[in-house]
Amino acid sequence: MGAISPFLEPGNRTNANSLAIVHLSRDNLLPVILQESKGEVDGYAEGSVINTRFGSFPHTTLINQPWGAQVRASIVDTGSRGRKKKVQEQDNIPDDSEGAGSTTTPGQATPKGLETASSGFVHILPPTPEVWTTSLPHRTQVVYTPDYSYILHRIRARPGMRIIESGSGSGSFTHASVRAVYNGYPKSESDARGKVYSFEFNEDRYQKMAEEVEAHGLKELVKVSHRDVYSNGFLVDGKSPEAECVFLDLPAPWKALPHLSRSKPADVKQDTPWVSPLRSDRTVHLCTFSPCIEQVTKTVEVMRQLGWMQIEMVEVCHKRINVMRERVGLNMPTDRGSNLSPYDVGEAVQRLREVESKSKEFHERTQGGETGDADVDMDDAPEAQKSNGTPSKGVSESKAPVSSSGAKPFMMGRLIHRTEPEIKTHTSYLVFAVMPQEWTEEQEAAAFSQWPCGQESKVIGKLDKESRKREKRELLHAKSKSKRKRGKDADAGEAGETEADNEKDVKRPKPDPEVASS
Ligand SMILES: C[S@@+](CC[C@H](N)C(=O)[O-])C[C@H]1O[C@@H](n2cnc3c(N)ncnc32)[C@H](O)[C@@H]1O
Repeated sequence: MGAISPFLEPGNRTNANSLAIVHLSRDNLLPVILQESKGEVDGYAEGSVINTRFGSFPHTTLINQPWGAQVRASIVDTGSRGRKKKVQEQDNIPDDSEGAGSTTTPGQATPKGLETASSGFVHILPPTPEVWTTSLPHRTQVVYTPDYSYILHRIRARPGMRIIESGSGSGSFTHASVRAVYNGYPKSESDARGKVYSFEFNEDRYQKMAEEVEAHGLKELVKVSHRDVYSNGFLVDGKSPEAECVFLDLPAPWKALPHLSRSKPADVKQDTPWVSPLRSDRTVHLCTFSPCIEQVTKTVEVMRQLGWMQIEMVEVCHKRINVMRERVGLNMPTDRGSNLSPYDVGEAVQRLREVESKSKEFHERTQGGETGDADVDMDDAPEAQKSNGTPSKGVSESKAPVSSSGAKPFMMGRLIHRTEPEIKTHTSYLVFAVMPQEWTEEQEAAAFSQWPCGQESKVIGKLDKESRKREKRELLHAKSKSKRKRGKDADAGEAGETEADNEKDVKRPKPDPEVASS
């Protein structure tokens, strides 16, 4: 068995030669296989380096970190890299680690004690299907988290199950589905565990998918096959995957459906004996994923012909709601170059008055001959204004939407929420269907002996008919006895009521005394 996938069991810390996700910002995630490089890599004395707009991060600073850790940027010697490139260009010499200006020699360990840069950091996250979906190299359209979480729930993907998936595309669904069915790595050939059988027609995508599966430690849990499933179906080396769940993300799912039958469909031409890719003793749950309603119509038509049941279409409309603080007001700290706007009319007027009074004061002073030097006036500007262009504290504090005294920057401003308009609400239509389990004659006989349909006159539940009657007689007798005891004016007829009468009563269909009394 190879290394355990960080997608399934990431452990507590990052590891060398394993995938990690570098979180730059909410929508900017970078998947990286962390390299424990010895010596110079690509001209960097520090070994492999990730360069981002938040600074440079040698891999060595990211290895053996607790997941979720914040890692500060490092000061990286890009100089040696630049010089080396120059020399290579001049001399046209092949790349080796003894290039001019190199600070390390081949085989030398990565320099320790890297200097931390004055700013910039990233967070290092464990790979999960969710972050992988947002950071993976897109080769095709992919299935996103809101869709696949619902699909996996509806097709009943649970640990230990086998899923057929086609096409593999960029592997977004593959990573989510392998986590859903994971119940450990197989210990031997015969050790049947949860597995994903993924089929891809495009050669390039198949190759990339196979490489990724291996690099992510999923080779034993995901079998990727290069296949046109429309014509060649879903068997692997002629054997059935015995799948209980199926997901088809194909342009024409109806063309693949005949291969997902329990027995050979009439229109399938095949000389070899029919082997179904589905598990025969379980209900099979299927989902197809199609962006257009025309595809859905065709798929449903073929599903009906092939005996799929409980056919249902669902559309998942995902909306992300952005909750943030609206920083409006003249006292708000802002980015350089951005314009401040007043929170309300009062604040605007107060600001204008302040500017006017300062201008008046300035003219009075210059006309009065105090000083003609504008620089002096500049120096008189309030501290806050000098540093970031915001007005004096006095003004902003009185009308500020949030008091600036002691308020944390992230708590300043009015709390608002907006849906993000650029989020696509339609991805695809999901068609779900169910193929009931196949019944063998033995199963039929076993079920009949447990629930003998049509022969229930002899036995219903635990008691036969005679015992039920006797129980009922005894119950009625006990009741009438207690009634007699309690009754003051029991008449002769009532008093003389015999057991035989009671029996007669039972035989005559009469309303149940319990029901009648209630
Ligand atoms: C939209 S992509 C699948 C994306 C994938 N579900 C994901 O989440 O990344 C559709 C894939 O189906 C593949 N495909 C199309 N026709 C196929 C066929 N007849 N057999 C197998 N794969 C096929 C395409 O090459 C493409 O990669």
